[in-house]
Amino acid sequence: MESNVPAAAVVPEFDSPASISVVVNKDRPLDAGYVPPDLIDAGGVLLRAEAGHAYLRMSAGAAEASAAITAVSGFRPANMQADLHSSYTDSYGGPAAEALSARPGHSEHQTGLAVDIANPDGACSLQSCFDGTPAGSWAAGNGHRYGFVVRYPAGAEAITGYSYEPWHLRYVGEEMARQMFDAGITLEEFADLPAAPGY
Ligand code: DAL
Ligand code: ZN
Repeated sequence: MESNVPAAAVVPEFDSPASISVVVNKDRPLDAGYVPPDLIDAGGVLLRAEAGHAYLRMSAGAAEASAAITAVSGFRPANMQADLHSSYTDSYGGPAAEALSARPGHSEHQTGLAVDIANPDGACSLQSCFDGTPAGSWAAGNGHRYGFVVRYPAGAEAITGYSYEPWHLRYVGEEMARQMFDAGITLEEFADLPAAPGY
C-alpha cells in the first residue's frame, strides 16, 4: 500500500566498529585486537567488503576519467600501526609525528574503511601536492559519489588532529559522503563530536 509518510531518515551509528559510519580518532580508539570480519582484496589492499566494492567502482570511474588511482594502504592492524607510529616519531619527533600518524588503536586504517590512494606514477605520493595531481584532484571532487570523503581536509587540523591528507579517503557510504561533501565538514563535525585533543 502506498504511504504518504516519508521514510524515516537512517541515523548513522558512530560508536560501533561494525558500522560504516564509526568515528575513530585521537579520542576514540578501537580495541587493540579488533580486525574487521569481512575484509576483501580491493586493488591490492584489504578493505571491508562494502568499502572494497565501492573502492573498485571508484577506481573504475577514475580510470574512465583519465585520472587512474592506485591503492597504497588499506586495513592496518594495530601492531603495524605501532611500528609505523614509532618510525614517524623517530624521523620527525613526537609532536610532528602526532600530526601525521595515529597511535596504535586510533587509526582509521584499523577499521578497514580507509584507503590511501596515489597516482600510478607516484606523483606527490603522500604529500599535500597530491591534491593538484590527476588522482588527487579527481578524488576530491568525485569520491563522494562512491561513498568516500577526504577525511583530513586542509584547514581542519584543529578539528581532526591531523595535517592535511588529500590521499586518505574514508568510506562512509554514498548518502553520508554526499551530505559531508555538500556541507564541507569533517566527520567530527558531522557526528557532533569534540575537536581533537591537543597531543
Ligand atoms: N595518517 C593517519 C592519520 C593514520 O595514521 O591513520
Ligand atoms: Zn591513511
